[in-house]
Amino acid sequence: MGIPLSISSDLDLELEDIIGQCVAILGIRGSGKSNTAGVIFEELLRSNYPLSIIDIDGEYFGLKEKYEVLVVGRGEGVEIEVDETCAEEIAQISMEKNVPVVVDLSGFLSDERTAFLQEYLSALWNLAGKLRHPYIIGIEEAHEFIPQGVKTELKELIARVALRGRKRGLGAIVISQRSAKVDKDVLSQAGMLFLHRVVHEVDMRVYSELLPWRKAETKEIITALSTGECVYLNGDNVIPIYVRERETFHAGFTPSLEVVVTPELKQVSQAIIEAIEHAKQGKGKKTRIDQLEEALAHLESEAMKKDETIARLEGIARTLGYIKVEVPQPSYPDVQNISKAIVHSVEHPGVASGRSPAPSRAVGTMAKKMVPPAAPVGVIDIEPSTAPTEPDDPIVLPDAVIRHIERIAKRVSRKSILHRRILSFVVGHAPLAYSVDQIAAWTNCARGVIDNDPPRDFLEMGLLARERRSGKMHYHSNLKEYVAREFGPFQPDLGISDLHRIMRHLQARLVLLGEEQ
Ligand SMILES: Nc1ncnc2c1ncn2[C@@H]1O[C@H](COP(=O)(O)OP(=O)(O)O)[C@@H](O)[C@H]1O
Ligand SMILES: [Mg+2]
Repeated sequence: MGIPLSISSDLDLELEDIIGQCVAILGIRGSGKSNTAGVIFEELLRSNYPLSIIDIDGEYFGLKEKYEVLVVGRGEGVEIEVDETCAEEIAQISMEKNVPVVVDLSGFLSDERTAFLQEYLSALWNLAGKLRHPYIIGIEEAHEFIPQGVKTELKELIARVALRGRKRGLGAIVISQRSAKVDKDVLSQAGMLFLHRVVHEVDMRVYSELLPWRKAETKEIITALSTGECVYLNGDNVIPIYVRERETFHAGFTPSLEVVVTPELKQVSQAIIEAIEHAKQGKGKKTRIDQLEEALAHLESEAMKKDETIARLEGIARTLGYIKVEVPQPSYPDVQNISKAIVHSVEHPGVASGRSPAPSRAVGTMAKKMVPPAAPVGVIDIEPSTAPTEPDDPIVLPDAVIRHIERIAKRVSRKSILHRRILSFVVGHAPLAYSVDQIAAWTNCARGVIDNDPPRDFLEMGLLARERRSGKMHYHSNLKEYVAREFGPFQPDLGISDLHRIMRHLQARLVLLGEEQ
């Protein structure tokens, strides 16, 4: 059991999942990227995971509200102003003393930014080679530094961290509002992606290449995402999630009429500030020893570059078959999952008869397999170890809201079992749309029955929506719109996160109502 990361109640992630990863957070301006990144940083800081955040807009100094973070550079929340001459010392303090750093570049000119980052990132890279302990670098507006189709020294450096940092324990979190402009190699190597809303066709094309869905489906699902919602992608695991709101002050929030007061901030220890001040003053009066040390560091970094070239050439030679390659033992599937699958299939006689039953915890099931159930025969439903849709949120919803959810559930429970099963399946498998054939197979009833008796009651209530696609009727969940409309009278007390929580509670209730006789 690892250390859990509380990023979204829809997602089970552990700290270990992120070590050495390349994480990409994409989406248009205002879609919630910086919030998502901020939440991940909060979780890493909570576990004392060392990190640096390259902050272009001065959005992250608010992390100091809860955590001891050193904010350097030039900008609003900076506690010690530095330029590239101190970059190496700061990298060293951060990595060796485990001090989290926000590098605020908002007050730098473009070439000053480049100079700072080049010094800073190459220092981190070299230190990581020596120390080899976990460390993560977050980069906002990554398309500016790792643009597709352009070669720069800085890009080469960042791409190296993203693509080959793992061996040194280095991970990267790249954040960008221009998915199509981010270097393709970096994106394709990202093992974990948080895909927020995009609208431009070029960005949608990038998403289509990353996601396992058909183009039209991808477009439909992605354009329907609200602020804070995104599609989480990690290998075969594809789930739409809602990311919680940042606990610490988000200086990049969209301004509203409310007056926002910058909160009290924590300070890193005075000794660290003094060490940087000392480094700043020391610049310009180099002793002979300093000069020799610098020359030595330069030679070491040259030697390291040569080692990397040798490693790369060895890699190529290996691919060409000149060197014998040791093939690692394949890893075997998780035994725990297999036994769960068997238990599940025994509990549901539907599998034995060649048909899968309506899944009991459908959204959780989707977390493991998001592929539309085209061929239901013999499909075994593997339940996840925890069910994210269970109404077990620690935060309690207002009584009036709970009562309203119960009223809706009661109304639904009076409808026919056939309709409830259809509702349960479609709502549980949101956001994809399903044809009558697919629904019939998954709910264990003949297609003609649904054709003759479609779930009109739920269409009228607005819980479901349907439309004809390629000549076939398709149903999809309309729960998000329904919740926004039904619970509207409770606003403005309810924020986006509350509406999402209500949707998850209602979804879980409706999925269960499909199983009652
Ligand atoms: N999960 C969320 N829940 C509630 N509000 C959010 C959430 N994510 C973002 N917001 C709000 O939406 C606005 C835009 O979010 P932000 O993360 O700055 O977007 P981006 O970085 O994509 O431009 C901010 O005011 C932020 O506080
Ligand atoms: Mg942002």
